[in-house]
Amino acid sequence: MTQPRILRLGSVKDLAQFEAHLDSLGLNIPHDRELLRAPESPLAHRLLWNGLPIGNRICIQPMEGWDGTADGNPSPNTIRRWQRFGQSGAKLIWGGEAVAVCHEGRANPNQLVAAAHTKEGLALLRSTLIEEHRNTTGSTDGLVIGLQLTHSGRSCRPTTKNKAEPRIVYHHPILDRRLGLASDYPILTDSEIRNIIEAFHRAAKMAWNLGFDFVDIKHCHGYLGHEFLSARTREGRYGGNFENRTRFLREVVSGIRSVAPGLQIGVRLSAFDTVPFRPDPALSSPGKLGPGIPEINEELLPYRWGFGVDPQHPTEPDLDETVRFLRLLEELDIRLVNLTAGSPYYNPHIQRPALYPPSDGYQPPEDPLLGVARQMEITRRLKQQFPKLIFVGSAYSYLQDFLPHVAQAVLREEWTDFIGLGRMVLAYPELLWDVLEGNPMQRKHICRTFSDCTTAPRNGLPSGCYPLDDYYKDSEAGEQLKKLKSKAVAEKSMV
Ligand SMILES: Cc1cc2nc3c(=O)[nH]c(=O)nc-3n(C[C@H](O)[C@H](O)[C@H](O)COP(=O)(O)O)c2cc1C
Ligand code: SF4
Repeated sequence: MTQPRILRLGSVKDLAQFEAHLDSLGLNIPHDRELLRAPESPLAHRLLWNGLPIGNRICIQPMEGWDGTADGNPSPNTIRRWQRFGQSGAKLIWGGEAVAVCHEGRANPNQLVAAAHTKEGLALLRSTLIEEHRNTTGSTDGLVIGLQLTHSGRSCRPTTKNKAEPRIVYHHPILDRRLGLASDYPILTDSEIRNIIEAFHRAAKMAWNLGFDFVDIKHCHGYLGHEFLSARTREGRYGGNFENRTRFLREVVSGIRSVAPGLQIGVRLSAFDTVPFRPDPALSSPGKLGPGIPEINEELLPYRWGFGVDPQHPTEPDLDETVRFLRLLEELDIRLVNLTAGSPYYNPHIQRPALYPPSDGYQPPEDPLLGVARQMEITRRLKQQFPKLIFVGSAYSYLQDFLPHVAQAVLREEWTDFIGLGRMVLAYPELLWDVLEGNPMQRKHICRTFSDCTTAPRNGLPSGCYPLDDYYKDSEAGEQLKKLKSKAVAEKSMV
């Protein structure tokens, strides 16, 4: 594969140039020419979810910060991030960040944990967000806040940043090799899985007692819930056929309904995936990662280790089981669904399209706009098929200056119900609120997908927008990141 030439979107000055760029890529991404203010803007429209009014169509996506304390409580960095989530004016807060249901299930030694000793810390995050939201918007009407509950499964690293402690559901031919797992590495037993399910119940009950409106049972990005969905090769109650692979979800849901009957439930789902990618060794050189190439060969076909993946052409999505999963959510009376894709670890270009790769990634194998368009199009198709479900769409940050134009158009055309904002919020929390208020856009704060917010935690530093948020820019962590980034890239490219 050769490195594709990619036009830097930050250099595209106006909508006419943006349209020409879309044409050159053959993409259909709806966008409005004129931005509307509240209350006319579709971004300002309310939506009723099971009797709960959500005050506008802006959703803050969960974003883990790797900056909690060793015992899983929030640090001042964490509190500041949630404050900025409140400042965004968004009325739907999707969990703030992934919170582990038990210590062993943490993705990093600084991830938040839901436990008796973190109760006050989690309550403080919620109250800080509410307070800041009131300061920004003048009211907390229609503000709906959830907590994303997770177990990191294959990506567990609970104790120190240098020690992976994977808890796997089945053996994966590529990811096991990457983690250095032997063929007899233990898989989670059914009784260990039951214990994890009970930890989800306890965490949800706590969230309910703390006043959170909903919990997300995370099923995305290669973490435990997502891994169950592709556990075709696992034997027993939690693997094999579709019913067994979704038993984890059903048992978590039924327990939550009995311990916290008033609590609403949402699910964040990787609607499709692809195989793991790696930098093309033939095109890597010291200091420069090669473009991503899929790590797949004939022997792995039909591919049985993905969800939402065509088994014969595993770099292509196949939505048959995704549709079955959404049907199951309807049967379980779960209406709020946040669609995302892939994994940040093994195919980040699918999950968070970026011009600049994180230090453990690879150069983009495609124009990142294709990644944005892919997630948008699949969300559109699923919304059409499930009009009663309420969808949050993901991966809009790469749209940069044109994000508001696209957001307004896709809501109007009902491609999605909510615009989910990830990285853009770390860089410029009030972007869409500024649009609704008719304030000028602050171009210097727009996320340019430099990926430092991913590179930093990969190297044991707190996540944050180092290039654009002065809070990190001049910090000690910022200096460390600069040194680590060049070192990590050089090492990786020599492999
Ligand atoms: C630093 C960082 C942390 C993230 N943490 C989480 C997380 O805890 N849970 C989750 O579901 N997604 C997480 N994501 C993914 C985002 O929610 C989002 O799907 C992704 O960044 C693409 O959206 P964007 O283009 O708006 O950034 C994270 C992304 C980033 C950049
Ligand atoms: S570090 Fe800042 S500019 Fe870079 S991707 Fe993250 S939020 Fe965007």
